[in-house]
Amino acid sequence: MGCINLAEIIVNGGKRLSGEIAVQGAKNSVLPVLAGAVLCDGECVIHNCPDLSDVQTSIKILQNFGAKVTYNNKTVTVDCRSISYYEIPESLMREMRSSVVFLGGILGRMKRAVISSPGGCELGPRPIDLHLSALKKLGVEITEEHGFLNCNAENGLLGCEIHLTFPSVGATENIILTAATAKGVTVIHNAAKEPEISDLADFLNSAGARIYGSGSDTVYIHGVDKLHGTTHTIIPDRIVATTYMSAAAVTGGEVTLTNIMPSHMVSILHTFRESGCDISVKGKSLKITSPKRLYRVPTIRSLVYPAFPTDAGPLLIAMLATAQGTTVFVENIFENRFRFINELNRLGANIKTEGKVAVIEGVKSLSGAKCVCPDLRGGAALVVASLVARGESEITNISHINRGYDNIVGVLASVGADINVKE
Ligand code: UD1
Repeated sequence: MGCINLAEIIVNGGKRLSGEIAVQGAKNSVLPVLAGAVLCDGECVIHNCPDLSDVQTSIKILQNFGAKVTYNNKTVTVDCRSISYYEIPESLMREMRSSVVFLGGILGRMKRAVISSPGGCELGPRPIDLHLSALKKLGVEITEEHGFLNCNAENGLLGCEIHLTFPSVGATENIILTAATAKGVTVIHNAAKEPEISDLADFLNSAGARIYGSGSDTVYIHGVDKLHGTTHTIIPDRIVATTYMSAAAVTGGEVTLTNIMPSHMVSILHTFRESGCDISVKGKSLKITSPKRLYRVPTIRSLVYPAFPTDAGPLLIAMLATAQGTTVFVENIFENRFRFINELNRLGANIKTEGKVAVIEGVKSLSGAKCVCPDLRGGAALVVASLVARGESEITNISHINRGYDNIVGVLASVGADINVKE
């Protein structure tokens, strides 16, 4: 896998983007699906897996369990029949906070799991209390010592009713994974409805699971004895699609995106249209045609699906930094989402934040500068803004971007951006 590390991205802004981009598979689907493969007694062939450092980390976790895994041309082949180990090493937990989703898979399979406490991440504290209390209800004994969580379900996993006080994506996935081979029926009330949850359920069902209602707020999981091998194709990444749409829009460009799922992007498409972009959708593709200058949009609020996704916030903020008028963005999911805004202001943006509110006063133009990626989507937002900034921008700390984007530099260059990687 060809991820770039310790490199920086150099952008000479001002090029109008035009052309066609095939959107990669969804990072947030691949991770739980690979965790689901742990439950399968047979080979799983998973297509449309983007080449990302987070996917590499997931493969390392699987190999560490004893699985046989190969990655070839966006397809992961994973055979977990030889699994003999149930610990996720601390180094891999640190590399990827979402490693916690492997907890459900390995518990279902081995009835044991050891992970280090995930702690915080760039976006602030990332508690897993909802995951753990649900697992306890399913019969998992959890003890914490020396920064490790010891999980034991040797007395069996038993289906139950779980009410989530917040529809956490990761908790919903972990419950589905743990309950898929538990005895009896598990019901999740107030489940997360994100499309990646349905993708996980579709994958597991194709391997013999009986999961109903995914994509709604009540999910029923009828436990089965075991799962078999299967073949699955990961859904398109709606946040990566948003990134390339923002890149087109901010440069006044015209770009066609293929391999997308427009029905997963309703709130996002609505916001782009409000900013003055023309979007025509045809099957699994769309064409975005942007005005010379974007307009402000009414207040955007990030919320759980199907409302506006928190991960798309930084991209829209970057894009609206040069719009005509002032936009207000309210972040309701993560505490530290706005860390990239200081860096964006170094490019000449005029954005003020107070608590969970960002006020984006559109400026006429941005100018290239050195800036540092604070996190994955914040880093992508800096790339978007730099595409329209006059002169050269130098973006460092790009390992964050490589966690979620498969060749962002090559993709943007292919539609006319002046962008390079400097090793
Ligand atoms: C997933 C996505 C991430 C996205 C997020 C929200 C993956 C790998 N990551 O993250 O890109 O931004 O959904 O759409 O799929 N919370 C608790 N206790 C818990 C669990 C969560 O308080 O036990 C809180 C979190 O701190 C956060 C909120 O709930 O404030 C949302 O978290 P959650 O939906 O769990 O997000 P993730 O699964 O971590």
